[in-house]
Amino acid sequence: MNRTPKFRWGVIGPGEIATGFAEAMKWVDDGEIVAVASRSAERAEAFGDRFGIPARYGDYASLAADPDVDVVYVATPQSRHCQDTLDLLRAGKHVLCEKPFAMDADEARKMAEEARNRGLFLMEAIWSRFLPAYRSLAEVLAEGRIGDPLLVEADFGFRMPVRPDHRLFDPALGGGALLDLGIYPVQLCSLVLGEVERVTTDGVIGSTGVDEQVAALLRHSGGGLGVVKAAIRTGMACTARISGTDGWIDLPAFMHCPDALTVTTRAGAEHIDGSYEGNGLRFEIAEVHRCLTRSLTESPVITLDETIALATTLDAIRAGIE
Ligand SMILES: NC(=O)c1ccc[n+]([C@@H]2O[C@H](COP(=O)([O-])OP(=O)(O)OC[C@H]3O[C@@H](n4cnc5c(N)ncnc54)[C@H](OP(=O)(O)O)[C@@H]3O)[C@@H](O)[C@H]2O)c1
Repeated sequence: MNRTPKFRWGVIGPGEIATGFAEAMKWVDDGEIVAVASRSAERAEAFGDRFGIPARYGDYASLAADPDVDVVYVATPQSRHCQDTLDLLRAGKHVLCEKPFAMDADEARKMAEEARNRGLFLMEAIWSRFLPAYRSLAEVLAEGRIGDPLLVEADFGFRMPVRPDHRLFDPALGGGALLDLGIYPVQLCSLVLGEVERVTTDGVIGSTGVDEQVAALLRHSGGGLGVVKAAIRTGMACTARISGTDGWIDLPAFMHCPDALTVTTRAGAEHIDGSYEGNGLRFEIAEVHRCLTRSLTESPVITLDETIALATTLDAIRAGIE
């Protein structure tokens, strides 16, 4: 019997999202995690035991040197994404790098250039884009169901206790609302309205030095407006509305991983189901496999140019609150 060839994954930074990734891999036929690396051998062993991963490394460089690894999921804090990704690309690995891709647009450009020069696959893990609800959203927009989109309103925020030891409150690890959560509303604006021309913004820096609340107004070159908010000390609806000339689309909470959407036009409101089984990271994994199978070095769904543009927008927002 022929077995489907499997893409052999490595994972670095076995924390919270890496755990979700390993759960998601169970829902993907043509991939398996063959190696995990942690800064600590004990943590690598524990993750390996939990998910049945054969190779466990107590440092990231050993995983990069493992010839049995094809593609690596970078699940470290954003402060490390650039260096970790560069190290892996230089070792010849394809890379799926968690969001936010980098600390700033300069880093993002460096990472993209390295991947392009080496002909390796690289993608920012904006998992939202691959979820069934976002696929439906793209279709509804392409079909012109709401006419021309004019306005995107989106927010993502919750109230966390201040924990200076948590990465979200640590400036050195790229903490703060904007980079961690703001990326989601911003990527939605980019998906719907395209390039950003001008940014107006304000925010609140908390006691640990990170932005705890941020609000930004994005003026897109096509004339559309994006109104985005993010917070780690303020509960928000975490929803999105896209208004067009002929109707609007609502994304329920959480706007970065909705399981449905509602399209409202003169004909009435249509509820579109976007529910799925398993962990939603499975869909971005499937996209990486689709691209690798077709020898694509970028996904057309979230290109490196768009990732650089997103980082540029985040830089512009940050400049307004610092
Ligand atoms: N797509 C999503 O929905 C989603 C959700 C959450 C987070 N993320 C992104 O994924 C990345 C990781 O987030 P997370 O919530 O999984 O964080 P986490 O639980 O803290 O895990 C990060 C891991 O990175 C490693 N690491 C390397 N250097 C580190 C350092 N200096 N400080 C702390 N940890 C370090 C640690 O593993 P070892 O020390 O064992 O190597 C740690 O377990 C972030 O960029 C975040 O924005 C994405």
